[in-house]
Amino acid sequence: MAKEVKVDSKEVGLVAGLNLFNFFLGTKDLHYGLWNDGLDVTVQNLPEAQKRYSDFLISHFPEDVKTILDVGCGAGGLATELLSRGYQVQGVSPSPLLSEAAQSQAGDDFKIHHGRFEDVKFSVNEKFDMVMFSESFQYITLNMVLDKAQSLLRPGGYIVICDFFKTDAPGKSVVGGGHKFIEFQKVLNDSGLNVLEEKDITKETAPNLDLVNQMGRDLLLPTMKLIGYTFKNNRPWLSKFFTWKFRKKLDKIDYKYLSGERNAESFAKYKIYKFYLLQRD
Ligand SMILES: C[S@@+](CC[C@H](N)C(=O)[O-])C[C@H]1O[C@@H](n2cnc3c(N)ncnc32)[C@H](O)[C@@H]1O
Repeated sequence: MAKEVKVDSKEVGLVAGLNLFNFFLGTKDLHYGLWNDGLDVTVQNLPEAQKRYSDFLISHFPEDVKTILDVGCGAGGLATELLSRGYQVQGVSPSPLLSEAAQSQAGDDFKIHHGRFEDVKFSVNEKFDMVMFSESFQYITLNMVLDKAQSLLRPGGYIVICDFFKTDAPGKSVVGGGHKFIEFQKVLNDSGLNVLEEKDITKETAPNLDLVNQMGRDLLLPTMKLIGYTFKNNRPWLSKFFTWKFRKKLDKIDYKYLSGERNAESFAKYKIYKFYLLQRD
């Protein structure tokens, strides 16, 4: 009998988001958007904001970069853009569903190393000009990530990290994810890497949470109300059982998506979104 493999709920969330936004907006990017220069925070503008994020990232690549390892390549949106600009790109992807999407979007020449960055093996001679973590850094074990990334670089090669971290603001954030910034700074100091550029883009990325808030209020809430109303009237006993059985899950959805707590303000309090360009000796 085939061994059962548990599907990670974060992966399910990413793929569900990908399907939804791809269907309605035609975007296959899985990163936040960059809401700068007065771009209105509307779901229709998400593809433009995501494009601005990709352009921002790529505009910081040094000129001597030709080969890139895209760690956590998602559905291949960035890799496809980089390939079209003449870079040679390989990806790392632990998610079979996202790898499939990435391969079909970026094409057969895009080599994907399947597995977690922590586990993937590279041949000793395989060296890149740059190792890039675009919103994937937070998923990877902190105490090994920079050492392994450095070992994959040619001398003078670069690491790009664009992701959010946890601040030490008191209280509990409704938005999960991110390494503790203070711990990351320690790991970075100990790594021997040179920091060539460092930018705080929290202000430009926080509006993504206002978008999530709008979607909860204007899409998820009315849909759940409609389902609840129909269920309660047509199947009262089943409805009672369901609400009792899944009360914890429903409370969680309520708190996470419908309470209005997921917004730009709380993101900017509990998270710091940073861009880093690092270089090894
Ligand atoms: C938010 S998505 C970002 C995707 C893409 N880099 C982008 O900018 O659109 C996070 C990515 O990290 C990947 N990921 C999660 N855990 C990982 C790990 N341990 N090693 C490598 N990638 C990982 C996920 O599969 C997903 O592709």
